Amino acid sequence: MTSSNKDKVAIITGAAGGIGRSLCKSFREAGYFVVGTVRTMPEDTKDYDAVIQLGLNELVNDPERRIQFEESVRNAIGNRPVKVLINNAAIQILGKTADLKVSDMQISFNVNVLAPFMLAQIFQDDLSKNSGSILNIGTVHARATKSEFVAYATSKTAMHGLTRALAVDLGGQIRVNTLAPAATATPMLRAGFIGNESALNDLEACHPIGRIADVQEISDTALFLCSDQASFITGSTIYADGGILSRLHDPA
Ligand SMILES: NC(=O)c1ccc[n+]([C@@H]2O[C@H](COP(=O)([O-])OP(=O)(O)OC[C@H]3O[C@@H](n4cnc5c(N)ncnc54)[C@H](OP(=O)(O)O)[C@@H]3O)[C@@H](O)[C@H]2O)c1
Repeated sequence: MTSSNKDKVAIITGAAGGIGRSLCKSFREAGYFVVGTVRTMPEDTKDYDAVIQLGLNELVNDPERRIQFEESVRNAIGNRPVKVLINNAAIQILGKTADLKVSDMQISFNVNVLAPFMLAQIFQDDLSKNSGSILNIGTVHARATKSEFVAYATSKTAMHGLTRALAVDLGGQIRVNTLAPAATATPMLRAGFIGNESALNDLEACHPIGRIADVQEISDTALFLCSDQASFITGSTIYADGGILSRLHDPA
C-alpha cells in the first residue's frame, strides 16, 4: 500500500464490469477507499469499500437521483478526501446508421458523455481541494473505428473532447485525462469468442504487440495517471492500444 493514498477516495463507475472490477481491486490494493457504482448489486463485494447503485441515464435525466446519489456517496465516505473520479462505465450500442434510433444516440451521449460531465461537476470542489484527478476511460474507437460503431465512437470521441475541455477549464486544480484502451481481455470479451478461437487469434495478431490487453495493464496505467507521479499530465489521451492505431491496414 502507498501510504500517501491511505483513505483517499476513488469513485469508479461501472465497478462490476470487466475493467471496472480490475480498477477497483487495483486502487484498493494501492490503499484507496474505493466507492464503486453499479447498476445491479454484485454478489461479491470484496473489491469495494462501498458499492452504490447508479444508473447513469437516470442520473442525467432525474435531478432527484443526482441528490440521492451524492448523499449516498457522502454517507459512505465520511470525512475521507475525494482524490480520484474514474468515469469507466459505458454503453455500446451497435447498429448501421439507417437502423440507429435518435434515442440510441441520446442514451449513448447520456451515459458516455453527460454523466461523466455531471459527476465531474458533483465532485469538482472535493477534487479541487485535494489536488485530485479525473480519468475518463475512452477507446481507440475515438480515433479509428469500424462499421456499426457510430453511436459508441461518436459519443466516446465527445468524451475525449470533454477531457481536454475540463482540463483547460479546471486549470491547475484538477488533472483530467483519458485512458483509451484497445481490445481488452475482459470475461465478456472472452465469452464472445467461445467456439470461435480463430477469430480471437486474428484479433490478437492484428495488434503489433501480438495480443490484446490484460485488464491489469489498463488498471496499472490508470493508477499511474491518477497518481502524483503523473503531476504534469493533464488534458492528455493515453492510448493503451498495443500499437494498433499505428498500423496501416490496406489490402496490399
Ligand atoms: N473491454 C474492451 O475491449 C474495451 C476496449 C476499449 C475501451 N473500453 C472501455 O472500458 C470501459 C469498461 O468496459 P468493459 O470492457 O469493462 O465493459 P463492461 O464489462 O461491459 O463494463 C461496462 C460497465 O458499464 C456499466 N454501464 C453500462 N450502461 C450503464 C448505465 N446506463 N448506467 C450505469 N452503468 C452502466 C455496466 O453496468 P452493468 O454491469 O450493470 O451492465 C458495466 O459495469 C468502457 O468505458 C469501455 O468503453 C473497453
